Amino acid sequence: MAAKGGAVGFFDSGLGGLCILDAFKTLCPHESTIYIADSKNCPYGNKPAAEIVKLAESNTRRLLRRGCKMVVVACNTATAAAIDFLRERHPETPFIGIEPAVKPAALRSKTGVVGVLATAGTFGGRLYNETKAKFARDVTVIATVADEFVELVERNEVSGANAERAVRAKVEPILAAGCDKIVLGCTHFPHLKPLIEKICDGRAEVIDPSDAVARQARRVLSARGLAAPASAKPSHIFIRT
Ligand code: DGL
Repeated sequence: MAAKGGAVGFFDSGLGGLCILDAFKTLCPHESTIYIADSKNCPYGNKPAAEIVKLAESNTRRLLRRGCKMVVVACNTATAAAIDFLRERHPETPFIGIEPAVKPAALRSKTGVVGVLATAGTFGGRLYNETKAKFARDVTVIATVADEFVELVERNEVSGANAERAVRAKVEPILAAGCDKIVLGCTHFPHLKPLIEKICDGRAEVIDPSDAVARQARRVLSARGLAAPASAKPSHIFIRT
């Protein structure tokens, strides 16, 4: 059973959000968690926003029925399409979302060229475009849709010749354009970080926001008085649709 006050719920279109779940469990070892991998509907990246909203709402309801005290939308695409809707629909529940880390990348870039790897849905969303307009006005942002990375991760093909070919095809052009920061704007992509770093070979820093999202989740739990006590015996549930 969940710890007193309920578990922290997570969902993603599949296994991507496990990066965030792992970071959160390390940071908050007393918290119980429930993770939904909506593999039946994977990928989300190329679905219309209205469909993602429905899927996000259904995942959220499932987590709330199990008594979750907070929901982490561990998916950039679902955050882009649905976070406003979810917050409005469930005002009593805190939601944590994730968007590509364009701001730190733009602020830290020395070459003035930043690469972002994400899904079409994320690039089409309000959050990404507002953040880019606000913080990346003075840098060139190369937005690259890398949907095939999602399939690789779902198949657990995160190394080997085939994965390397697919990743190189997306990463080399960004590097050739002079980028020194690569933002992982999809939660599936940190699973490919070792391979992306190998291809970068020191030419660019790869930015994975998983720890920052976990820290934000911890901050919100604590600010709302929802954090589990140190005496809690956590449980972890994984659901795959
Ligand atoms: N992991 C998701 C994201 O962060 C979406 C992957 C997909 O299903 O296309 O965007």
